[in-house]
Amino acid sequence: MKSSSKGEGGQAAQSSTPRIQFHFLTLFPELIQPLFKASIMGKAQERGFATFEFIQIRDFAHDRHRTTDEPPYGGGEGMVLKADVLFEAWKAAGGNRSDPSIRTVLLSPQGQPFQQAKARDWSQSARKIIFVCGHYEGVDERFIDLCVDEEVSIGDYVLTGGELPAAVLADAVTRLIPGVVGNERSITEDSFEGGLLKYPQYTRPRVFEGTEVPAILMGGNHKKIGEWRLAQRKERTRLKRPDLWEGFVRTQVEAPAPASKRRVKSKKNPVQSSG
Ligand code: ADE
Repeated sequence: MKSSSKGEGGQAAQSSTPRIQFHFLTLFPELIQPLFKASIMGKAQERGFATFEFIQIRDFAHDRHRTTDEPPYGGGEGMVLKADVLFEAWKAAGGNRSDPSIRTVLLSPQGQPFQQAKARDWSQSARKIIFVCGHYEGVDERFIDLCVDEEVSIGDYVLTGGELPAAVLADAVTRLIPGVVGNERSITEDSFEGGLLKYPQYTRPRVFEGTEVPAILMGGNHKKIGEWRLAQRKERTRLKRPDLWEGFVRTQVEAPAPASKRRVKSKKNPVQSSG
């Protein structure tokens, strides 16, 4: 059966099954739920590319106080999210360690830094992603050992909880699902794709506060524009993100472009230089 859902001016997913089901296990769904109702995420859901479900961890508490966290054994600061409560919430979300298309991700400053390559990998290989959003000092380690496939961080700073990082990841993955963003080319030229930042962009007016749009963009020569943009991507990456630039240069040395695509560096064709 084909999906009948189609938003304004956009493509609909080709099957009735969403490409990726995102589940957020959280004590504070209200923190992020609205983020998935508007703009590209809202449309992705309307068109059947993704679903976003928010599971209240507290609904799986066992006692009449609906306890979700307890002080740590051995003493210490803060509270720890209970393994048994989380486990039941995870099972309700369809958690399953033996199915590689179902990924359980714990958001944590101790996790691996999230990068575009992972967003792309998940957008292609995941059917269901379950985000576990902690909100206290920690999560009982036995839940992590039993249920979590990977711990992911969005940067070297500590937030009050995993909800915002989970929303960041879901956004980054959803926009890479084929069909979600109208113009696929805009994705292949994104920052980080191919190890480079994005080129600068301009729109009307042609002159703003005395500064003109670069002449090359007004000439209509798409080959030349492409070359200029690539040169700009390289230059920006070298200046703004020397760490990324180093990685890019390394990949060029290790895997040079096929001979047919290589250009001889010449005065006439300076943009093809790697620098
Ligand atoms: N939870 C708190 N801080 C975080 C971070 N930097 N990344 C992911 N999850 C977090």
